[in-house]
Amino acid sequence: MSVYKTYMTEVKNNIRNFSIVAHIDHGKSTLADRLLEITGTVDKRKMSEQYLDSMDLEKERGITIKLQPVRMNYSLNGTEYILDLIDTPGHVDFNYEVSRSLAAVEGAILLVDATQGIQAQTLSNLYLAMEQDLVIIPVINKVDLPTANVEQVEKDIVKLLGCESDSILKISAKSGMGVDKVLETVIREIPSPKNNDDKPLRALIFDSYYDTFKGVIAYVKIVDGVVRAEDSVYLMASGAKGDVLETGIFIPELKKKDNLTSGEIGWIATGLKAIEKCRAGDTITSLKAESGKHKEEKEDQDIQNNQTIEPLPGYHEPKPVVYASFYPAEGDDYFYLREALSKLKLTDAAFTFEPESSSVLGKGFRCGFLGLLHLEIMAERIKREYNINFILTAPSVIYKIKRRNSEKGELEEIFSASHLPLPEVIAEMHEPWAKVDVITPADYIGKVMTLMESIRGIYIKTDYINDAHVIIQYEAPLANIITDLHDNLKSVSSGFASMSYDIIGWRRGDLVRLDILVGGDKVEAFSRIVVEKSAMEIGRAMAAKLKEAIPRSQFVIPIQAAIGGKIIARETISPYRKDVTKKLYGGDVTRKNKLLEKQKKGKKKMKAMGRVEIPQSVFIEIMKK
Ligand code: GTP
Repeated sequence: MSVYKTYMTEVKNNIRNFSIVAHIDHGKSTLADRLLEITGTVDKRKMSEQYLDSMDLEKERGITIKLQPVRMNYSLNGTEYILDLIDTPGHVDFNYEVSRSLAAVEGAILLVDATQGIQAQTLSNLYLAMEQDLVIIPVINKVDLPTANVEQVEKDIVKLLGCESDSILKISAKSGMGVDKVLETVIREIPSPKNNDDKPLRALIFDSYYDTFKGVIAYVKIVDGVVRAEDSVYLMASGAKGDVLETGIFIPELKKKDNLTSGEIGWIATGLKAIEKCRAGDTITSLKAESGKHKEEKEDQDIQNNQTIEPLPGYHEPKPVVYASFYPAEGDDYFYLREALSKLKLTDAAFTFEPESSSVLGKGFRCGFLGLLHLEIMAERIKREYNINFILTAPSVIYKIKRRNSEKGELEEIFSASHLPLPEVIAEMHEPWAKVDVITPADYIGKVMTLMESIRGIYIKTDYINDAHVIIQYEAPLANIITDLHDNLKSVSSGFASMSYDIIGWRRGDLVRLDILVGGDKVEAFSRIVVEKSAMEIGRAMAAKLKEAIPRSQFVIPIQAAIGGKIIARETISPYRKDVTKKLYGGDVTRKNKLLEKQKKGKKKMKAMGRVEIPQSVFIEIMKK
């Protein structure tokens, strides 16, 4: 072995790539903060809580939305180690961020809150880590809290992982107690990456974003080979070619480094202009052709030669499961809205949008999201970062329909209730279903089951995690899961139950389109697809809610719920009567009647003029339910 290779192998021996996985709020970001502090990566004076959550929204809501890599240097027993950590989100909606991070590391810290124990996302994230064959380091967090039940949680983890109980670390990420042990264990237990520097370049893209100055920046794990500035690269799946402008590491900001070698996590400024060409999951290889004459031909030859290189296993592209449309509140804002959506898309591959138009709302965009939290966050960002007022339609999953007149019987996708044809035309409707795992204290089994049955859930099985906790498995329609199952589970279980879900396929359903008419006009933004059996109940509830939410006006506003042409529920907002006779003193009845008559006529005119002004807050309010 050459001296250089021996040296590089030693360098790799000192690299550890790892992630922290946990259920939401179990303390990942807090642990990451402590690791940054202990390793001196971030100056204590600059340290703020949840340092790696760089978006304002992440800090405010205390949740991680985007994965964030960071390199730390740490000296243990006289040896310098490079620790590359990827912080990941915990909420179900952002699970695909977790699976991408895990493909780039060799180990994961499994963090469990001592007061909560194992929760649904603990399991689903653990399974993702196991699929990648990662070394798992179990850690119990928040042992400082008086309600911590360390002993029980320890037993549960032993049962889950089949590990020794002394191998489970007990820490307080908040105070920092035991965190140095976590670093020691990471160094001792997680294998270093292999030295594959002399192989042809293969870099796994696990994230990317567009930078105005540098073009598309790819977040990569170098699996084989070396990459440096000015290298020509080729993306195996998208077929895009680029010239590397710079390479570097995360501290967590981007820091330039002359090259990235196998085993390292870092970034490549690819020189590409279009983010679509640089998707997570793709493999970057190099093209050796020097610039100059016949560069193109030589590169094509290289691409041919590279065909012997096996692309790295990618990830399955995150597919939106919830759709909702944004319409600008003022028509002039259409172009600003389009620009805002395009910019957001550059930082979020899972978000999709395309133009659509509605007879009532005008021109807008149909957008796809990974779940309701994802939707809420995007809506908030449009409002906050771009200052645009919009109307948001009720969120919906994708449905499939078969038309009566369809000869081949093919299924057609329907993204929103307003696009669903009349009931007479539809032969069959299909909706997506998912498998739901609910973890709950055994005391709440009854209430959880009642809730699951109320959303058309089909019971599959119950497994005991320990004497006091169970996993209950159901199959249920996705539409019911994504709307408010999470919140309802929390409320029936005093906050203890947690859930995760996986889509399993399409099933036929008895579904209808429920429309809402306000002042006689159909408001498309309120239309939704519902189960026929519950249409009446939902229609009534919506009408009642709208009655509360829409401000009174000078005329009567009927609110009706309808299926096809049939009205199934009705509420009325009575007018406020402006006291036109107030200024009249004394008993001049004729004059009083005259004024009231005039008022009546005025109201008729207004009614004929039509539309009721519905404040934007009402649309958001209705969306929430
Ligand atoms: P997501 O990123 O949204 O998945 O959450 P997270 O897992 O990163 O949790 P985070 O670090 O934001 O911690 C959640 C809450 O628990 C915060 O209020 C922390 O201050 C608190 N917390 C974290 N670790 C500890 C601990 O060891 N002890 C105590 N008492 N509180 C802790």
